[in-house]
Amino acid sequence: MTNYWRAGLFGRSKSGKSTLMDRMIRNHNRAIVFDAIDERAANAAREGLVEVTHIGELQERVRDSYLDGFRFWFHPHYEVDLVQSLSDLSKFMLDIQTQFGDHYGTDKRPSLLLAVDEMADCYPNHTMKKGQDAFSNMCRMGRHKGIHLIGASQRPAEVSTKFRGQLERRFLFNLTEPADLRAITEMGGTQGADLAEAVRCLKPLEYIDCHVGEYRHGRLTF
Ligand SMILES: Nc1ncnc2c1ncn2[C@@H]1O[C@H](COP(=O)(O)OP(=O)(O)OP(=O)(O)O)[C@@H](O)[C@H]1O
Ligand SMILES: [Mg+2]
Repeated sequence: MTNYWRAGLFGRSKSGKSTLMDRMIRNHNRAIVFDAIDERAANAAREGLVEVTHIGELQERVRDSYLDGFRFWFHPHYEVDLVQSLSDLSKFMLDIQTQFGDHYGTDKRPSLLLAVDEMADCYPNHTMKKGQDAFSNMCRMGRHKGIHLIGASQRPAEVSTKFRGQLERRFLFNLTEPADLRAITEMGGTQGADLAEAVRCLKPLEYIDCHVGEYRHGRLTF
């Protein structure tokens, strides 16, 4: 059985998060990137992600190409509520996986990948309104429904712990804000203080890959 994972990418602006995210999703043929920032356009085009701006259209196109595969950049309009948008997308992806599993068996169900960039905007660290919290279900249940999850943020301290507390894997780039370094200390458990200090000293494009209690240093190259 495939092991589904949840990964968090944290680091200050231009540290390398979106670059690494693009590389992590490159080999997935059923992927949706949620990113409300217009600057995604060049990366999305290079990575073969088709831009869709409305949730209704996204749902229709995912249903149409579910078996063949799809790669979408979901780019909600700047006026919409991003928390609601991510919640609606999460609910749709969980539902489609449940429906397929019920009809054809979970062993035949294809895997999906959801990658959420700029998470502090769409999954902030405050209580969600009722009906806006399906991304919490995604964090908890996604892997049981055959969904890989990646989230990236400049500000780990501002992302809900319902995401950052659930991760199998974390890629930590440079962070300097005290609140963010405290969030890293929490994530690092008994080695938290050393981890936060190591993160504070990283150069742009350098990261620490934290996976099952092991820390590996890496650096993105072009
Ligand atoms: N193809 C490339 N060749 C050389 N440098 C690149 C290339 N693509 C990105 N970079 C550089 O890599 C760095 C990291 O960019 P990236 O977009 O991954 O950062 P980020 O952590 O997502 O930042 P932000 O939080 O502002 O979105 C930037 O300085 C960018 O200019
Ligand atoms: Mg980015």
